[in-house]
Amino acid sequence: MSDGQPLYNVFEIISKKRDGLQLTQEEIKYMISGYVEDSIPDYQISSLLMAIYLNGLNHREMTELTEIMKHSGDIISLSTIPGKKIDKHSTGGVGDKISLIVAPLVAACGVKVPMLSGRALGHTGGTLDKLESIPGMNVFLTIDHFKQILKDVGMVISGQTENIVPADRKLYALRSATATIGSIPLITASIMSKKLALETDGIVLDVKTGSGAFMRNLEDAITLCQTMVAVGEKSGRPTIGLITNMDQPLGAAVGNSLEVIESIETLKGNGPQDVVTVTFGLAASMLMAAGVEKSYEQAIKKLKTVLKSGKPLEYFKRFISAQGGDAAICTDYLLLPQSKIKQEIKAHEEGYISKIDTLEVGLAANELGVGRVKREDKIDHSTGFTFHKKVGDRINQGDIILTIHSNSQSNIKSIGKRLRKAIALNNEKVPKPKTIMFLVDKNGIKEWPGN
Ligand code: URA
Repeated sequence: MSDGQPLYNVFEIISKKRDGLQLTQEEIKYMISGYVEDSIPDYQISSLLMAIYLNGLNHREMTELTEIMKHSGDIISLSTIPGKKIDKHSTGGVGDKISLIVAPLVAACGVKVPMLSGRALGHTGGTLDKLESIPGMNVFLTIDHFKQILKDVGMVISGQTENIVPADRKLYALRSATATIGSIPLITASIMSKKLALETDGIVLDVKTGSGAFMRNLEDAITLCQTMVAVGEKSGRPTIGLITNMDQPLGAAVGNSLEVIESIETLKGNGPQDVVTVTFGLAASMLMAAGVEKSYEQAIKKLKTVLKSGKPLEYFKRFISAQGGDAAICTDYLLLPQSKIKQEIKAHEEGYISKIDTLEVGLAANELGVGRVKREDKIDHSTGFTFHKKVGDRINQGDIILTIHSNSQSNIKSIGKRLRKAIALNNEKVPKPKTIMFLVDKNGIKEWPGN
């Protein structure tokens, strides 16, 4: 690292951030490349991460950290592929299957959708696991294959290769071990470096808030969204963010093949209202980021017409086939993994559902094998829940609140108990919660105009 570059003093850089001072671009670069190249040890980077956690980074530092992390590995250029290309990222939630719906919908509008997605981790689901419930589906493509499918089909979804932002892989592991995950500047650099490494024409962010979200409270979700939008824009990439509700599972289905079915039903025009609202919101933002629509209202009108035409389902089928999957699942759901046991959970009392502890729902789903507790855990693609009632719904004694899909009788009782506890009832009528709260773009924050 000393070839022609000044040799910085790591101790002094850490001290500067500890004392609340700003780091220069060269100092940030020195620390990150030193860490990636193993010339700066974990204990010194841990100390810097904690100083950042406590004292933050300003927008300049954050944009520079993001760019430096982005350049730690491969950059995927999409310049040889004609047309606008827009990516969508969600901060994660329970029942969040929107990528599976939004990608073919936007592709059917003529805007290409390349997505590098993740697996389930913690209580939140992962797009790759949902897709892997489709027999034959390949979700780990080479970069060339990724580009070819994007060009031929108009959409593609794959896992990240090892070489995309290797700095984040190392830093994230260290943050997990040093209680520095929950830092908005570090989360921003982590997410945006990966988004920017894929050279799209724009990024749309779905920042979730509520009991099942990474950002549980609204203020933090707004700050994270504004920060990511600012860094995206500063890096020259049109970026739009929506703040959406994760205070209850999204849609009725939680679980891999169950969510694939719900996605297909949404593409057939039979989606649950909240899934449809978030899909139209994000898809409209993608069309706006691509510059192909003049207003959100107009974009939503167009999306409704395109969804009705049936074209997005045809795109989804072509996408499945291109990635080696069996597109016949779109007409025959029995080709997807099925659980052996379906246990209905009925209401013991009457009232209005006032709250669903969505973190608890995600954790209970993991007990069924929907997600992972540890990275190496095996997934059961057939299991999960179907919610028949959501927040604001009236329930009478004996009504079915949800169905548990399981392959083992042994834990159904305890999971049922856990879910009953997660669902609160109220005697008074409870309003249906807003699905999309705010829109954040380069002009600032405003109420979602599509409500
Ligand atoms: N997701 C990421 O990719 N990085 C973070 O730091 C947090 C969530």
